[in-house]
Amino acid sequence: MKQALLILLLVCSLHFALSLRVGIYDNPPQVYLLDGRPAGLYIEVLEKIAKENGWKIEYVFATFPEQLENLKTGRIDVLVSIAYTEERAKVYDYNSEALLLNWGVICVQKDFQYRDITDLAGKTVAVGKGDVYNQAFLRELQRYSVSVDLLELSDYPDVLRAVRERRAVAGVVSRIYAVQNHEKFGVKITGTIFSPVELRFAFPKGSAINATLIDKIDEHLRKLKSDHEAYNSLIARYLGMEKRVIPPWLATLLLVTGVGLVVFASWTLSLRVMVKLKTKELLKANDELKQLNEEITAQQQELSALNEQLENTYARLESSLKRFGDVLSFLSGISPDVSREDFYTMFLSSAQRFDSNALVVLMDDDVCYLLEDGSMKKISVKGLTLLHDRKKLLDLVSEALKINFEAVVYDVSKDGETALLFLYKDHVTYCVEEDLAKALCSVLTIYTKLKKHEEALASLSEGVTRAFLKALEFHEQHTAKHSETVKNYAVKTAIKLDLDERWVRLISYAALLHDLGKLAIPSTILNKPGRLSAEELQLVKQHPVIAAEIVRHIKGLEEVAEIVQHHHERWDGKGYPDGLSGEEIPLGARILCVADAFEAMTSNRPYRKAMSISEAVSELINNAGKQFDPNLVRIFLEILKEEGVMVVES
Ligand SMILES: [Fe+2]
Ligand SMILES: [Fe+2]
Repeated sequence: MKQALLILLLVCSLHFALSLRVGIYDNPPQVYLLDGRPAGLYIEVLEKIAKENGWKIEYVFATFPEQLENLKTGRIDVLVSIAYTEERAKVYDYNSEALLLNWGVICVQKDFQYRDITDLAGKTVAVGKGDVYNQAFLRELQRYSVSVDLLELSDYPDVLRAVRERRAVAGVVSRIYAVQNHEKFGVKITGTIFSPVELRFAFPKGSAINATLIDKIDEHLRKLKSDHEAYNSLIARYLGMEKRVIPPWLATLLLVTGVGLVVFASWTLSLRVMVKLKTKELLKANDELKQLNEEITAQQQELSALNEQLENTYARLESSLKRFGDVLSFLSGISPDVSREDFYTMFLSSAQRFDSNALVVLMDDDVCYLLEDGSMKKISVKGLTLLHDRKKLLDLVSEALKINFEAVVYDVSKDGETALLFLYKDHVTYCVEEDLAKALCSVLTIYTKLKKHEEALASLSEGVTRAFLKALEFHEQHTAKHSETVKNYAVKTAIKLDLDERWVRLISYAALLHDLGKLAIPSTILNKPGRLSAEELQLVKQHPVIAAEIVRHIKGLEEVAEIVQHHHERWDGKGYPDGLSGEEIPLGARILCVADAFEAMTSNRPYRKAMSISEAVSELINNAGKQFDPNLVRIFLEILKEEGVMVVES
């Protein structure tokens, strides 16, 4: 039964001519409309095959994307000149033989500077919708990580028209179409070619007549391509080449070479693009490195500036510390326990060290003090009230010192009595700071006031001492002379011991007042010619305590009271009133003890006659380490020798 049907179909097919709907579109020179009629390479070949096989052809014209859809839905039976791909082969049936080889190419605007595919980054590129080179182009873009704006159009003429009209910078078409039509559209063909493909005939997938059609078409094409002269002549006619007889081996070689060229061009392009991409990456990396370097340089400069600031701060701090140290050294170098003029010498000498370029002058009342070759010079200056007028001050000092000064840094005490000046002969770049001058002037003022106060106190103490001595003299006649002599010996001893001026003065007061307590002892006992009774002796021994009690109440003479109280103590501790020994006894008291004993021994008393000098010296020597400080005895004897009181034995 089945066999009968097949035979019937075959008979029908032989009896009735096969009618084919052939899809065509605008893609010269393969297929196009010429004066409204289908023309082109594929049309000529297909019509020959149709004629050979008695097929009737009905052409259906549409855009290429529409034809792909027509083919899929079976509205056409054949589509001519369609690139073979494996993807499409899943949707359509293909014949086996290709009439032409083709590949994709990029065309650009004539004035566009094109070197490779990366130049299209960010630009608009026109492509054919559903075109095989559209997909291939996208793969190329992906391969080189290039992003473009795609403008999908119906067919190749639309694509190149878009480039001509500058709606797109570039367009992707087949190379054959580009060669044939680039001049017409005023575009240029680039060297970027890709995706070689075979142009075949396609049919709806699984159509019953496909086998017959494919068989006949392939048979014809094989025959055509075996007749090289006829084939080449046909191709040359449509592709615009001269008619030329190409031997089979050369045709094969050209085909292989063509494919090789595409591959080589693609490889070359790939290399070129890779080099360009790498170059871009290197340039970018270089830019980043440069930027990083600039940042590092900027940071280094900031660091350097910061370091400089730190160094300056450190230098200022160091300078301040040094200055602080200088001031401390200055303060520790001056002592109030000297005369006022010695103090001024010391002060000027120390102040001069702050600026050796300056002449340092201090003013006290109406007198200028300055150092000349290390010696103090005093010059009276009137009109110190002008100190607050810098110009008048400079004139005043210049006139007084007979030196022309141009600059001064100075400060004056609030009461206007004391001032300190750093004088400069020329305008110098550096002067001592005003603050320092102010600080030193404050020190000067304090010390000057202290010295004046001390001088007044010393004068008062001297007066009080003399008054007491006078009172004692009225009570016991010989005591005043005794006290003066003891004072002379004691002061010489103190000076020999290098005691400072203040202690020498205190010891002199102590010597004058050491027997003041005798005021409380009746003169009958003091002047008694015979031996004193125990009670009388006990009373006499109270005189150091009584004297100390009186003196202690005089402000400024407290240390004198201590000396007076212990002037009858003994080195061996057997003295009175407290039985102190050795260095427990105040030094001033030990000095008085030697001087007092020597003076007493060498003076007449109502109850005995004076000893000779040598006898008294022997007493001192014999009692050194017992009654007297042995070191002080040694010094006292040196004084006696120096004074010529004691004859030096040869
Ligand atoms: Fe005494
Ligand atoms: Fe005495």
